[in-house]
Amino acid sequence: MLTEKMLQKLNQQVEKEFFSAYLYLSMEAYLRSINLDGFANWFQVQLQEERYHAMAFYNYIDKVNGKIELGAIEQPRHDFSSPLEIFELGLEHEQYVTKLIYDLMDLAIETKDHTTQIFLQWFITEQAEEEENMTRIINRLKLINADSAGLFMLDTELAQRMYVASIIPV
Ligand code: FEO
Repeated sequence: MLTEKMLQKLNQQVEKEFFSAYLYLSMEAYLRSINLDGFANWFQVQLQEERYHAMAFYNYIDKVNGKIELGAIEQPRHDFSSPLEIFELGLEHEQYVTKLIYDLMDLAIETKDHTTQIFLQWFITEQAEEEENMTRIINRLKLINADSAGLFMLDTELAQRMYVASIIPV
């Protein structure tokens, strides 16, 4: 049984995860517009992961007999200046999502909500991985330092990323 506060925060998290997908779709569109199709592919995979995260929260609320109440999704930013700026904004966004997940976990611990703690555990691990992935690409973009040959090599590499559905314990 979820507390009212937990139910409200889990519903908000559905919205935040869909916003993440929307933000990454906006970044994907920008990268496609400047012909960096490999970078765009990376974000295409990323947004599929975010949609999956959103649906995992949605399914979890339903599973524990909570009432689903969907909120409005904010408009994402659509003007960017470079792939490096995009990944830096992406990392900043993931750090914000990590904080939201930690807040949820803190609440689950405070209220002795063991079921939700088990569900959230997967997201704690996932957030560490997402931050690490973004950071690695930022570091490589800094090394490349806008050199076009290096940028196209990285673009070719990022074109290989494929979406693999995760198994979230819902
Ligand atoms: Fe669903 Fe990238 O956090």
